[in-house]
Amino acid sequence: MKEQSLLQPYHSDQLNLKNRVVMAPMTRSRAANEEKKPTAALHGRYYAQRASAGLIITEGSQVSEEAVGYVNTPGIHSEAQIAGWKEVTQEVHEQDGKIFIQLWHVGRMSHPDFHDGELPLAPSAINPEAESYTPDGFKDTVTPKAMTKTDIQKTIDDFKKAAKNAMEAGFDGVEIHSSNGYLFHQFFNKTSNVRTDEYGGSIENRSRFFFEVLEAIKSVVPAHKIGARFNPSLHGVFGTAMDEETIPTFEHIVKKLNDYDLAYIHLSEPFTDVSGLPFAVTEIAKHFRPIYKGTLIINGGFDQQSGNAIIEAGDADLVAFAKLYISNPDLVERFAEHLHLADWDKDTFYTPGPEGYTDYPKAKVAQNS
Ligand SMILES: Cc1cc2nc3c(=O)[nH]c(=O)nc-3n(C[C@H](O)[C@H](O)[C@H](O)COP(=O)(O)O)c2cc1C
Repeated sequence: MKEQSLLQPYHSDQLNLKNRVVMAPMTRSRAANEEKKPTAALHGRYYAQRASAGLIITEGSQVSEEAVGYVNTPGIHSEAQIAGWKEVTQEVHEQDGKIFIQLWHVGRMSHPDFHDGELPLAPSAINPEAESYTPDGFKDTVTPKAMTKTDIQKTIDDFKKAAKNAMEAGFDGVEIHSSNGYLFHQFFNKTSNVRTDEYGGSIENRSRFFFEVLEAIKSVVPAHKIGARFNPSLHGVFGTAMDEETIPTFEHIVKKLNDYDLAYIHLSEPFTDVSGLPFAVTEIAKHFRPIYKGTLIINGGFDQQSGNAIIEAGDADLVAFAKLYISNPDLVERFAEHLHLADWDKDTFYTPGPEGYTDYPKAKVAQNS
């Protein structure tokens, strides 16, 4: 039988992976402690169980206290958090795995409850009319505070510090979470960014904040250890609405990233049916593959068959799996041996503790028990 493309090693000038299966970033809200730090017992075990992936990308991890917008998500801005992540990276490396941390700022997708009553930050004072998952349950979002130049500079510094912390914690690299309607995405889209200074207006201006953060991170982390995630055709979820300049904005960003020698860019196929939107792109990998010269990870609704197929078609180099990784810690081994894939339980996606987190068995264990 022909070797599966997903299981082939991957080598570029920037990245060497044992296979092309990537664990996609997933918020799991298990840092249920005062310091919002990952722990060896939960996070260390969870990621080590999944270390046969070619690359693990962690859950979104806030770069500062202002960056948070969901309950019990871990940070990467304090000493306690760095120490916690150190244990996680050690465990993954002991299992011969590779792990990047996803650096996160939710922007307006937050709530004053997280910020001692202060307003969340955003490019412009426009309510996303969405919900924030607070310690007291889901609450309606509010009209955020439009970031001042000082806020912007502080946030750039926070990303830089967080990236430096990530290196200290032993990560193999960092992924900028410039996706899914969060802070960077809010800067990209005209519907959430109506600024009249150099961070708003033109396509170049709306992507400026992202590139300033990237430059700042690059001053402390080599480019080949930096990735960036984008969801160009996100529409109608996470408070995001596309406009006629959305795709041209992402084209501009992706083209410009050719000059950076990053580890990769990580794209998502549309989360919803956008075929009726005149300005949306329905096939993201196909559209962006010819534009980007470096490593392209694609994500969103893939399984073993479609994952192998998209690599064979030449539309992506690596495929990231999210929900399948929740319930199949040994996803690579299951693909290799064409084993049954376990279903995930969405009721335990964000609950505290090991249930639905570290208790999904490997296929071989499940068969023998
Ligand atoms: C429980 C859960 C948490 C997620 N958290 C994040 C996150 O922290 N950062 C991110 O970029 N995407 C996050 N996502 C999106 C996934 O990475 C992925 O894009 C999406 O689930 C589609 O991939 P799939 O079809 O393989 O599940 C999350 C998805 C799920 C199901």
